[in-house]
Amino acid sequence: MTQNAPVTADHRATEQAHRQWWRDAVVYQVYPRSFADSDGDGMGDLPGITARLPHIAELGADAVWLSPFYTSPQNDGGYDVADYRDVDPRFGTLADADELIARAHELGLKVVVDIVPNHSSSEHVLFQQALAAAPGSPEREMYMFREGRGEHGELPPNNWQSIFHGDAWTRVTEADGTPGQWYLHLFDTTQPDFNWENPAVHELFADVLRFWLDRGADGFRVDVAHGMVKPEGLPDSPVDSEGMAVVPEGEVPVYFDNDGVHAIYREWRAILDEYPGERMMVGEAWIPEASMPKYVRPDEMHQVFNFGFLQSRWDVEAFQHAISEPLRLADEVGAPTTWVLSNHDVIRHATRYGFPPEHRFGEGLSRQEHPDAQLGLARARAATLLMLALPGSAYLYQGEELGLPEVADIPDELREDPAHKRAGVPGRDGCRVPLPWQADAPAFGFSPSGESWLPQPEVFGVLAADRQRGVEGSTLELYREALRLRRELHLGAHGAGDRVAFVEGAPQGVLMVEHGPVLVVVNTTDDPVELQTLPRGADAEVLLASAPLEGEAIVADSAVWLGRG
Ligand code: GLC
Ligand code: MG
Repeated sequence: MTQNAPVTADHRATEQAHRQWWRDAVVYQVYPRSFADSDGDGMGDLPGITARLPHIAELGADAVWLSPFYTSPQNDGGYDVADYRDVDPRFGTLADADELIARAHELGLKVVVDIVPNHSSSEHVLFQQALAAAPGSPEREMYMFREGRGEHGELPPNNWQSIFHGDAWTRVTEADGTPGQWYLHLFDTTQPDFNWENPAVHELFADVLRFWLDRGADGFRVDVAHGMVKPEGLPDSPVDSEGMAVVPEGEVPVYFDNDGVHAIYREWRAILDEYPGERMMVGEAWIPEASMPKYVRPDEMHQVFNFGFLQSRWDVEAFQHAISEPLRLADEVGAPTTWVLSNHDVIRHATRYGFPPEHRFGEGLSRQEHPDAQLGLARARAATLLMLALPGSAYLYQGEELGLPEVADIPDELREDPAHKRAGVPGRDGCRVPLPWQADAPAFGFSPSGESWLPQPEVFGVLAADRQRGVEGSTLELYREALRLRRELHLGAHGAGDRVAFVEGAPQGVLMVEHGPVLVVVNTTDDPVELQTLPRGADAEVLLASAPLEGEAIVADSAVWLGRG
C-alpha cells in the first residue's frame, strides 16, 4: 500500500450518521457468570451486573453487550439456550432483566443482548420433542436430523468435525429402542443445530427478537452468524492424506459462511427497522476478511466483528494490514468498522502479547506455557490505545480495563469449557475468571460470600478495580482517559474529512497512524524512540501515553497519542 494514502474514502458526515449511535460506540462486553455475584452463590447474576453498571458508565462506554443469561444447563457457559425468552434462575428473573435494562438506560448505556440462533441446548423443549417424535416428523424438521451412512446407518452422515473437537454428529435412540438417526451439532453434543431451511425456525427467532426488542434491548450480538445455513446436500469436508477432515489454510469449514445466511439477516433487519430508536445487530463471524462486507450490506447487519485485528501480531506491517483492510472493506458497503482485542473466547490480550509471535492462541493457555506477563501488559496497553484511536466502534471485554491476564492455573476438574471436556485442550475458562472489584474483600469483591465458580489468582488483588481507581498510570485510568479523549476528539467517527493514514518516514518498527486530530505512534521495537526523530514529532503535544515517556522518548512496547496542533 502507498504510504500516506487515505485508506478510508471520505465518508459524508451526514446528520444521519451522527444519529446512528452504534457507528462509533464503545461496547463493553459483560460475561454474566463472572461479572458480579449478588446472592453469594459464586455465580455472577443480573442484579450483580445492575449494581455494577456505574463502573461501565464511568469508564466511558456507550453500551453493554451481555453474553447469554437465558435458561440453560450451562454446558457452554449459556451459549446452549433452553429457553430464549426467560432468564436462568442462576442469573435471576425476567424482572431482573427489565431492571438491568432500565438502569442501563438511566445511565445512558445501550443494551445489546446475545442471540444464539445456530443451535439450542439439547434441553430445549423443541429438541426434546424432536427426540420423542419419529424420523421425518415436523418436530425433527426443526433440527438437522439425517440417516447415517454405512450398511445399518452406523456411520455419521458426513465427515464434519465439531469446533469443540470430535464428530459433529451424534446418533439417537428411537422410541422403539433401536439405534436411529443422527443429529448435527457444530459445537457440543448438547448443542443441536437448528434447521434454517425450515420456515418455522425463522418464525421462532423472529418472535425471540421481538420479545427482547419489546423489553427495550437496543440490539443483538449474533452468535455464530456465519453458521446457520449449511451447504446443499451437506457435502464432506476436504480430507488430508490420512482421510481426516481438514480446513485448507485461509479458508473456513464448509459449513461456515454459506450465502444462505444473508437472507436471514435481511429478514431480521426489517424487524429491527420496525422499532424506534435505532436497534442494531453485530455479527460474530470468524470468516475470511473478504467475506466481511457481505454481512454488513445496507439491508443486513449493522456491524460484524473484525477478528483480523485481534489476531494481528505485534508488528508494524501486520497492524497496517489489520487496520487498512477492514476499513477498505467496510467502506465498500458504507458500514463502520469494528475493533476488538479480547472476548470470552480468546486468551486475554494482556497475556497474548507476552507470547512469541508464532504462538497460536485459539485453544486457551496451558499451565506449561509461561508468557511474559509484564511485556504482555505493556503491549496490550499500547494495542488498546491504537484501537481506541481508530474510526468505527470498539468492543471491550470485562476486565481488560484492569489489565487482567489470562489465568492458566485452573485445576482441570474445575474447567467447564466443553472443548476442554471433549479434547483436553486448556480451553477458554482462563479468560472467564470472576472479576476483582475490591482487593481486601472476599473473592476480591466478586461475591459477598467469598465464593467464585472459578478460583481467582492472587494477582487479581493487585489488579482489583479499587486499587486502580484514581491511580495515575493504572490501566483503569488509562482506559478512562482514552475513552474520554476518544469522545472529545470524535475519534470513533467516520466523518467527512476523517481518514486514517500511515505516516511516511517513520523509523523501522514504529507504526505511525494519523486519524483526525491524533497521530498514534506505536513503538514495537526494543528500544526507546526519541520524539524529535519522528516525522512531525518535534513539537508534538503528547495527549496520552500507554507508558510514561523517558525524557522525550517513547519507550519500547508502548504507544502515544500525539496532538497534531
Ligand atoms: C460463539 C461463542 C462461544 C460459543 C460458541 C457456540 O463462538 O462466542 O462462546 O462457545 O459460539 O455457541
Ligand atoms: Mg449469583
